[in-house]
Amino acid sequence: MIKRIIKFKEVSSTQDTAKRFIHKQEEIAVSSLRQKRGRGRHGRTWISQPGGLYLSLLLFPRTKLTSIPLLASLAIIKVLEDYDFSKLSILWPNDVLLNNRKVCGIICEQYKNAIICGIGLNVNIENFPQKLNNATSLKIESGKDLDINGIVKQIVGRFNPLYNELQKQGLKIKEVLNYIVGIGKSVEIITSKSVIKGIVHDIDDDWALLLRDQIGMIRKFYYGDVRRLSW
Ligand code: BTN
Repeated sequence: MIKRIIKFKEVSSTQDTAKRFIHKQEEIAVSSLRQKRGRGRHGRTWISQPGGLYLSLLLFPRTKLTSIPLLASLAIIKVLEDYDFSKLSILWPNDVLLNNRKVCGIICEQYKNAIICGIGLNVNIENFPQKLNNATSLKIESGKDLDINGIVKQIVGRFNPLYNELQKQGLKIKEVLNYIVGIGKSVEIITSKSVIKGIVHDIDDDWALLLRDQIGMIRKFYYGDVRRLSW
């Protein structure tokens, strides 16, 4: 349960700042208005211009949990619905899409006995570099500037009860399935080892993606990136 949010104006990466608080063994959130070296999944850079929300949750889960990224995605979706956004979806493993474009990315890293869940949400960003042509922001979609610190508080408020529930009884994944896009669609799954084409068959109870590959075999992926093929 996160009771404290520690706010910064500029850090290197909120993931690294969160690590510095590990000795307290207290679950906290660290946010910053800018990052000099934001990190994305698979060693990518997360461009962290002003106007974005950069947040890391330092967590000490009691059991080994594979579904923290999923909880974070669900918390984000609930907050965005509270702000009256619709057309929200989750592209496995943990991109939140708004109007079919990426509005939020999530990364979870293990550090000693902690999990640090990093959330990058495009709030008031108006332009993205050309190579991020599938990105969007809350400002682009609504025309409005929103209060970033207010959203940080809402995210933590939505995350806490989901996290408690998960630790007590496991997550009821059914609610999440309503938001998943891509089932039945053609994709490529890109992992550090390979690129495999197929059709998304389902999302398993443990949040793994089940892919029907080109020879009809169902393969299970716990991590990877999904590249959408013609949809
Ligand atoms: C992705 O690749 O989609 C995940 C992006 C995660 C970015 C967030 S921003 C806050 C936190 N600090 C970082 O350096 N990365 C995460």
